[in-house]
Amino acid sequence: MPDPRGDGYVDEIPYTHGYHAAMNPRRMQWAVLQAGYRPPEVRNACELGFGRGVSLAIHGSVGTAAWQGTDFNAEHAQSARSLCEACEPQPRIYAESFAEYFARPDLPDFDFIALHAVWSWISPENRARLVNFIRQRLRPGGALYLSYNCLPGWQPMLEVRERLIERAGVAQRDGLPLGAAIRQAIVELDRLEPQYDVILHSLKKRSVGYLAHEFFNRDWHPMEPAAVATELAVAGVTRVCSVEKQPSITFRSEYWLRDASALDSTTQQADLSRVETLDGSGVSAERLVLQPGWGSPALHAQQVNAQRINGQLLALAERCVEPSVLACPATGGGLELGWVTLLLCSARRQGLEGPEAWADHAQQRLAALGQRPIDRGVVIDSGAMVRRFLREAAHRFAAQTLPRLQALGVLD
Ligand SMILES: C[S@@+](CC[C@H](N)C(=O)[O-])C[C@H]1O[C@@H](n2cnc3c(N)ncnc32)[C@H](O)[C@@H]1O
Repeated sequence: MPDPRGDGYVDEIPYTHGYHAAMNPRRMQWAVLQAGYRPPEVRNACELGFGRGVSLAIHGSVGTAAWQGTDFNAEHAQSARSLCEACEPQPRIYAESFAEYFARPDLPDFDFIALHAVWSWISPENRARLVNFIRQRLRPGGALYLSYNCLPGWQPMLEVRERLIERAGVAQRDGLPLGAAIRQAIVELDRLEPQYDVILHSLKKRSVGYLAHEFFNRDWHPMEPAAVATELAVAGVTRVCSVEKQPSITFRSEYWLRDASALDSTTQQADLSRVETLDGSGVSAERLVLQPGWGSPALHAQQVNAQRINGQLLALAERCVEPSVLACPATGGGLELGWVTLLLCSARRQGLEGPEAWADHAQQRLAALGQRPIDRGVVIDSGAMVRRFLREAAHRFAAQTLPRLQALGVLD
């Protein structure tokens, strides 16, 4: 694999357009409070290894904190910048390696440092740099969001990954580009080593962007949660809670605090009573968290920024199946709506009138991108059923979701 920087990190295939709500400072504050600790107020925040930058662009333009971040993949940084182009304020987006960025003389002390799906994909040297950065730059009382692949869940994959890397390497030397080499390696291994079929079948369903970044970097180090805590102890942070109610054996997303301060139950209850919950919009919308104590009602600038970012996300949804959120100024974060709903929003934004026309547009885009809709986990195959599904979705969108999105300042 080409490796111009010598760090063994895949560059030739960009990552996916994921959004990670756990990096919304309001989510973090709510979870930390639920766990019985005092969450920090967040003025300065930083995201490391932001990928396509959907989270960074949204949080840095429609939230209340000043965000910055780095990712050494120039194409990733460009994607992130184009999402929040013309937003004011907007996050500071660097295309620097961690080593370069950590050495900047102009970094503030951060109240919140966030990294999603980075820790397990970097070298031990880079992990040590990261720990040192947290030690130096996370202010006392500040929070860290960290997600990582863990053991024992990924134990079987360690062996499969070695085999896949070997095979993809051979295919690349025979002239195949990385994406095709990965696909071929999975098919070959599945044929030759049936004992891995469960893992390999699940890999076949994933995009090449995901597979390349997840498994084909030089570094891939799933760790026991206890080992992560030992490395991070040097930075003075302790784990306070998981984002998930039931942490899995393969992946964890966690909040950590520097100098954690436990709240007595009266203060905790008083603070929790200020937490309002607001149901998003329609069936697929997630539960949102609004915290009047910490957040402020969306400012005009944040509303304007949300319209701008959402314009970019809707344009992206026209040519790529990955985006599924829109920026929501009321929560300072992204609102999960699903790709098909984004297509309906996009049709409306292009001036098409009414649910029937929006459904037609969505159907054309699905066909153009070779996609079939999925209804409660079942792929819809027949043309007539696709049509019915999209019409129903468009009518539901018009009646329920759209008014809600307008009230929240997500769409105009
Ligand atoms: C698996 S991807 C996760 C991307 C993003 N956080 C997400 O979850 O959508 C890891 C990201 O870290 C970046 N990265 C890895 N090592 C880095 C380093 N040493 N300096 C800067 N960025 C790095 C990669 O370019 C990539 O975008």
